[in-house]
Amino acid sequence: MNAKQKVIIDCDPGIDDALALMLALSSPELDVLGITVVCGNVPAKTGVENALRILKWMGRLDIPVYSGETKPLERPYEDATETHGGTGLGNLRYPTVTEVRPREGAVEFLASSLSEAAKTGDLISIIAIGPMTNLARLAELHPECFAGLNRLVSMGGNYHSHGNCSPVAEYNYWCDPHAARAVFEAFETLPALAEKEIQMIGLDVTRQIVLTPNLRDYLCRLNPWIGALVRDMTDFYMDFHWQQEGLIGCVINDPLAVAYFLDPDLCRGFSAYTTVETEGLCIGQSVVDAEHFWKKAPNCHILTEADPLGFMVLFFSRLLKKDPLELRPMLARLMGGIVK
Ligand code: RIB
Ligand code: CA
Repeated sequence: MNAKQKVIIDCDPGIDDALALMLALSSPELDVLGITVVCGNVPAKTGVENALRILKWMGRLDIPVYSGETKPLERPYEDATETHGGTGLGNLRYPTVTEVRPREGAVEFLASSLSEAAKTGDLISIIAIGPMTNLARLAELHPECFAGLNRLVSMGGNYHSHGNCSPVAEYNYWCDPHAARAVFEAFETLPALAEKEIQMIGLDVTRQIVLTPNLRDYLCRLNPWIGALVRDMTDFYMDFHWQQEGLIGCVINDPLAVAYFLDPDLCRGFSAYTTVETEGLCIGQSVVDAEHFWKKAPNCHILTEADPLGFMVLFFSRLLKKDPLELRPMLARLMGGIVK
């Protein structure tokens, strides 16, 4: 078996963040070194408690949780509790984890981990599934540490798909557009990142990943305990999607970032120079120069096509620890109407 891939997950748990963490923690290829939490769906102080709850469910309280930035770089902080519920995990009411407590210093943890990786050559990847405030601070305070970065997979932004916070802006980049822009600029200017691109898992691909009631029922049939966790979190999320978009089911954005990290064949896209608007009507919009107007080198790989069935097979097989080949026929049948 190949060596485990070292990752740090930067998140704002959040219902789909929770599902993403469950997928990552169920995947033996990953060595999750730590979880850094940023203000986003919920305030960071809530997010760290939720991260601990998820680690406890998965029996992984050995993984440290670090609290990060509590507000965006410049914009007033706006949470997404209307989407994720007041606790950030829908209607789920799990007790506070007391066996371990969150640590301070998310940015310092990222910096020290990446700096050590740069020395050893055992590079670390970051899967960023919340606003990029922690990462922007990292670029501002410790730019040299990016020599230790392998991949950055960012759930955020959009290319041709409409926004979810405005006609053109996706929440993670809209919540802190200055941070998102700073990270994209880091991939344009930092020598350590000269040959690398942000792998942007935006709404163009995540909107293809819909957890429907039927799929969720199948999960519950196969494992009532995991199914109940997912059901209790996503009931609220499905209600939001019905009221907001008339969708039966819920778009689970963040798990696709983890799945793509595990299997890059799940999504296809192209590379281009990309930046983020930080003011005005289109604030938070990821602006993709696909036609190369600005003659700037690509700093981003924009994913535009996904394999929804392939994702669900991976997601279910990992969470349930079941053979993908056993699950695929039923998943294909349950997804008959929405598989592209
Ligand atoms: O726009 C969707 C993204 O914003 C997801 O990461 C969700 O958890 C929120 O952070
Ligand atoms: Ca998130």
